[in-house]
Amino acid sequence: MEMRTTKDEDFGVFVDTLHAAFGRFAETPVDGGGLWWSALEADRCLLATTAEGRPVGTAGTYPFELTLPGGVLAPAAGLTAVGVLPSHRRQGVLTAMMRHQLGELRARGEFLSVLLASEARIYGRFGYGPATYTARLTVSRHRAAFAAPRAGAAAGPPVGSVEVLRSADCGEILEGVYDRYRRAQPGALSRPHRWWELRAGQPPVSPVPRYVAVHRDADGLPDGYVSYAFGEADTLKVDEVIATDDAVFTALVRFVLEHDLVSEVVFKHVPPGHPLRWQLADFRAGEVGGDTDWLWVRLLDVPRALAARGWCADGELVLDVDDPFLGEHGRYLLTVRDGEAVCVPTDRDPDLSLDVRDLGSLYLGGTTPSTLVRAGHVRAHRPEAVALADALFRAERAPHCLHWF
Ligand SMILES: CC(C)(COP(=O)(O)OP(=O)(O)OC[C@H]1O[C@@H](n2cnc3c(N)ncnc32)[C@H](O)[C@@H]1OP(=O)(O)O)[C@@H](O)C(=O)NCCC(=O)NCCS
Repeated sequence: MEMRTTKDEDFGVFVDTLHAAFGRFAETPVDGGGLWWSALEADRCLLATTAEGRPVGTAGTYPFELTLPGGVLAPAAGLTAVGVLPSHRRQGVLTAMMRHQLGELRARGEFLSVLLASEARIYGRFGYGPATYTARLTVSRHRAAFAAPRAGAAAGPPVGSVEVLRSADCGEILEGVYDRYRRAQPGALSRPHRWWELRAGQPPVSPVPRYVAVHRDADGLPDGYVSYAFGEADTLKVDEVIATDDAVFTALVRFVLEHDLVSEVVFKHVPPGHPLRWQLADFRAGEVGGDTDWLWVRLLDVPRALAARGWCADGELVLDVDDPFLGEHGRYLLTVRDGEAVCVPTDRDPDLSLDVRDLGSLYLGGTTPSTLVRAGHVRAHRPEAVALADALFRAERAPHCLHWF
């Protein structure tokens, strides 16, 4: 098996091989209407070939920024475009590409990688763990009255206005609002300018027509948007609600729920524990479905990654971390004071023993250590360490990612 980084001249071969692996055609727009792969960068793409030079496998990374707990922005390599021709599967092509790719990322000094998994059984073996979750919320419009907020509550009546535009007429409004939102939302990824410019991805980034309601604050500055389309059977489908605070989110949700000629509104991406259901007078007016993992995280440098994120509680933990794919093992003392961590190698007795993929699941605060202890993934050497780990790894709010790549 040979591996090479693609160049502009063989990028077409890369794209064709990738599409053959998915059984699709490169020139056919995907569901969202865009050529999603147009935002790939040739020098971040890898082509695996047989000894005779026949291309059989592809993988690439996007240079994203990931928001960590505490509002820290960290570089994260977004693994994508992973495919192996059906004729060459289960012969170790992906394994060889992953080894190459993770080695390259480390050589570039990257300490985090993320991905979206087409199937949940593929990436654990390579050290990735599911770290953010998302669900669909279907709200019956006729039962969707809002509960009256308590006077002075954070989600009180918003000040501002809503304007309906077509996504094609939004200029850079959506890009700017998305960028403000993602900086404050743990688990969110940057959407580099290239994506908006090339209209790569899913709506509202892609060229597929969408209505967009833009919310503006009292000074007329955009601070939120909702992208939506009318589906079959009086359904209004919401691609994403992006808001820089909860009151703006509520205003946009009220806006879509007040549409005439609509019997239900489907919010495609709602984070776990989102307040929206609690805002409805009838809790059962909203039905959760399609609960699934979204962003998977892989730590490439454990002490650096743990020192990078913000922390909500103080304490000390000794973590014994196995990385079977890279054949590594490390024991680290994590000391957190005033929201910042120091993480150094230690020979103290461990509090928790875990696989690097489980640490990936804990990293953004979307999975609690106690859940993984109860599931038999993580071994706790002292019962008190579990509650401490839960308090330490928690994030200020549930991590959420709705960028598709
Ligand atoms: C997923 C895919 C890239 C795997 O490539 P591959 O070259 O066959 O993978 P490997 O031979 O290196 O497999 C490594 C191990 O993972 C397992 N594995 C690979 N794909 C798997 C899958 N889809 N489900 C379960 N296990 C899988 C293999 O059985 C093998 O296990 P083993 O080491 O115990 O024998 C390939 O099947 C593919 O292109 N699928 C369609 C496109 C796709 O889903 N891409 C992923 C996008 S996120």
